[in-house]
Amino acid sequence: MSKLTVFDHPLIQHKLSVMRDKNTSSKEFRELVSEIAELMCYEVTRDLPLEEIEIETPVAKAKVKRIAGKKLAIVPILRAGLGMVDGMLTLIPGAKVGHIGLYRDPDTLQPVKYYCKMPNDIAERYVIIVDPMLATGGSATAAIDFMKEYGCDHIKLMCLIGAPEGVKKVQEEHPDVDIYIAALDDHLNEHGYIVPGLGDAGDRIFGTK
Ligand code: PRP
Ligand code: URA
Repeated sequence: MSKLTVFDHPLIQHKLSVMRDKNTSSKEFRELVSEIAELMCYEVTRDLPLEEIEIETPVAKAKVKRIAGKKLAIVPILRAGLGMVDGMLTLIPGAKVGHIGLYRDPDTLQPVKYYCKMPNDIAERYVIIVDPMLATGGSATAAIDFMKEYGCDHIKLMCLIGAPEGVKKVQEEHPDVDIYIAALDDHLNEHGYIVPGLGDAGDRIFGTK
């Protein structure tokens, strides 16, 4: 079973509460998505392997640590995942970015793929898939399926709000993929929206409604 981490850091909780408020503007919403993604990235990368190297400081030779192993790729699920990319790149500027375009059919709630562009060496990278909302889990599981088809074998999923239904689906279909969220909400409503949630993340980021 994959690990579920729910971030309880006060800064993350406070920022998420402001995002949930329907009176928060698109500008502030966008800034908050990015800030929370940056804070979460700090923890999601905690288990990156380190190696010891020798350098010379101005004072003496020293054995120090640097990140070793595979490089990173951030994979946002379009559109709303785009809002999380800049915050993550602030902490891991060397990461490459792959894009998956998926939208949820409003009637069937099934994910429809419309775009995909990955770095050439994606199979050799640790992949962090980002999307603010994990609702039915259809989009996230489809995105993980794509990444596995590309040969990726080290994948994490980072979202802001998860519904129990979406978490369960990802854990059942991809037990090797750890999930990181800032809040586990109560349930989905009849339209597949997370309750209480924050509404349509893409619309709120891009001001399309
Ligand atoms: C939202 C969200 C996720 C998906 C979650 O995207 O950003 O990708 O819904 O729902 P699911 O877990 O039930 O699949 P949406 O389809 O609204 O597209 P958008 O980002 O372009 O607005
Ligand atoms: N997608 C969203 O943007 N919000 C939800 O609550 C569910 C899916």
